Amino acid sequence: MSTAGKVIKCKAAVLWQLNKPFSIEEVEVAPPKAHEVRIKMVATGICRSDDHAVTGSIGEGVTTVKPGDKVIPLFTPQCGKCRICKHPESNFCLINDLGKPKGMLLDGTSRFTCKGKPIHHFIGTSTFSQYTVVDEIAVAKIDAAAPLEKVCLIGCGFSTGYGSAVKVAKVTPGSTCAVFGLGGVGLSVIMGCKAAGAARIIGVDINKDKFKKAEEVGATECISPQDFKKPIQEVLFDMTGAGVEFCFEVIGNPDTVAAAVASCNESHGVCVIVGLMSATDQVRIHGNLFFSGRTLKGSVFGGWKSREHVPKLVSDYIEKKFNLEPLITHTLNLDKINEASELMKTGKCIRCVLLP
Ligand code: APR
Repeated sequence: MSTAGKVIKCKAAVLWQLNKPFSIEEVEVAPPKAHEVRIKMVATGICRSDDHAVTGSIGEGVTTVKPGDKVIPLFTPQCGKCRICKHPESNFCLINDLGKPKGMLLDGTSRFTCKGKPIHHFIGTSTFSQYTVVDEIAVAKIDAAAPLEKVCLIGCGFSTGYGSAVKVAKVTPGSTCAVFGLGGVGLSVIMGCKAAGAARIIGVDINKDKFKKAEEVGATECISPQDFKKPIQEVLFDMTGAGVEFCFEVIGNPDTVAAAVASCNESHGVCVIVGLMSATDQVRIHGNLFFSGRTLKGSVFGGWKSREHVPKLVSDYIEKKFNLEPLITHTLNLDKINEASELMKTGKCIRCVLLP
């Protein structure tokens, strides 16, 4: 029976309060309004990676997806009209719901209700639900052959790391790279460095259990700052002679950001901050580090313009240009979302895919 135009009752993980566990609830998902798309979720990565298949419905005026298409919801939309979207090198569309989140769709209202009350959307995607509604500018149509339980990682973590190497830093063939933080995003940076032809990729993490997988995906060596008396930037200078040419901070810690900048070659070294620091963090970096020519850059979603590049990344995966399997260590039912959150915190899980 077609659900087009009707409210769908389904299961979703609802966060009633900050810093509390998710609660599995029955929610009502309203039909899509104009320029919106309702999506049936097939798989979603916990972190911010999401992926889904549309078997649902589209609102009036939607032209770029149709019922039955496979899609990936995008936490960084691409409206195509704002000054950021119009700039060839920028990707953080001004209509994102990250900076000052409203938790609503573009028309200012919610499509979710639970226990009779409207509930907020989450960063324009709300993927911890069997059905969701997103704005058309926040959905990318992907290849019908894509395995959704894998390409869900292209919705966030993988693309963030991989793009930070190939698109933001523009790692060059034969170069020396260092990656601070070997979680799912750091491993994806390593894959990007390798794809770009880096000759040496040094993984840095305080958890040595991360080294094996890092080497499996392309790190040529791994070190722990805790094994040295010297600061890690001095260790990296000793190891490379001239500092690394590309350095990535994939932790989100102001101290490791400062160490990563100092680890770069003093003249042409490029440091990219991929990790998300907290809103109150301040980074203290000695001004002299920049005098000789180092570059420090930020990166969001790996520099990719979401609607344009996500379908291409999915095609690249299908053509085996990179591998997502090493990143997926766990797969759980959506009901187990709190267990998945705990797994992430233990450091034993790289990415857990949730099946709604
Ligand atoms: N020095 C070195 N490594 C560290 C340090 C430190 N001081 N502190 C933490 N780490 C390591 C952890 O041991 C872990 O392996 O950093 C890694 C971080 O990995 P995850 O927590 O799995 O995070 P991930 O999902 O990869 O995301 C990393 O990128 O996009 C951002 O928001 C994301 O800030 C997050 C970062």
